[in-house]
Amino acid sequence: MKSEILSLLRERGDYVSGQELCERFGVSRNAVWKNIEQLKKDGYDIAAVRNRGYLLQESAAFDVFGQNELESRIRTKWVGKRALFFPEIGSTNIRAKQEAEEGAPEGTLIVSDHQTAGRGRRGRAWESPAGCNVYFSLMLRPELKPEEAPMMTLLMALAVAKAMEEMEPKAAETDDAAVRIKWPNDIVIGGKKVCGILTEMSMEQTYIQHVVIGVGINVRRQTFASEIAQTATSLEEAWDKPVPRCELIGRICSAFEELYENFLQSRTLAGVREEYERFLANKGREVRVLDPAGEYDGTALGINDRGELLVRSTEGNIKEVYAGEVSVRGIYGYI
Ligand code: BTN
Repeated sequence: MKSEILSLLRERGDYVSGQELCERFGVSRNAVWKNIEQLKKDGYDIAAVRNRGYLLQESAAFDVFGQNELESRIRTKWVGKRALFFPEIGSTNIRAKQEAEEGAPEGTLIVSDHQTAGRGRRGRAWESPAGCNVYFSLMLRPELKPEEAPMMTLLMALAVAKAMEEMEPKAAETDDAAVRIKWPNDIVIGGKKVCGILTEMSMEQTYIQHVVIGVGINVRRQTFASEIAQTATSLEEAWDKPVPRCELIGRICSAFEELYENFLQSRTLAGVREEYERFLANKGREVRVLDPAGEYDGTALGINDRGELLVRSTEGNIKEVYAGEVSVRGIYGYI
């Protein structure tokens, strides 16, 4: 009930009477009061005024990261409707996979403040310190062929980019603060990585059993490990303003739900291509395609309906680069 009280107080942005809360949740005044007291203990600033009721006074700098706050920020139909918050966990991707195997509903969301065994792409570790970042995994059961799965990662990248832009609309106005996607799914700001996405799937012969999309976002200012210090940044460093983490997760869930439901109708990215390309950092840039069959250089043009990167090679052929197999580097830097 605490998360519902929070949502209601936040939505109202004004005093809500104790009576209204009692009626809404079918509980006594005393029960409402007790819940409010617990929320205050969790750090929420809630004013209680006789004859007026309760008022939530929020400041963006106050970043509660926990179960109630998370639930209160999720405004979707099904994505994240079952959300589990862990102060510490090995890896949210592993937990989400276990949930899938135990029959959890599609859209189950695992969120943590600290991962002790965070996983990155290509078998790398993902540094996951406590108190400063977002680590979450979303579990889905799509009726897709395994080779179609990379499209879901692109959709998540687009959802993250859209949600970030909503959090800081002014960002789009300056190159240094604008949110961009480095194909297929790194989110970058000012040429530095702010978010990584790791999609893992479980397959049964030719169909997908479940997919786990794991997202790690650098939020607070922090000292990065020396290997990534030159290429990583955080939202607060890039924007110089506080970013409440559960609000960001809530917005990502809403954006993803809408994109994913539309995607399932055509099972192509035709409907989001233009929007994805608006964020695409590589567009028009010289890239090196690290194809196991042979590296080549070219100019990135955009994506096709399957989410492959279109690259015009130096010989003038247009190649379609499939996200699952190759990686793309900027010739003059990270992008
Ligand atoms: C990358 O290498 O760019 C992908 C990093 C993905 C990290 C996230 S954090 C939440 C989820 N759990 C993990 O163990 N990894 C992903």
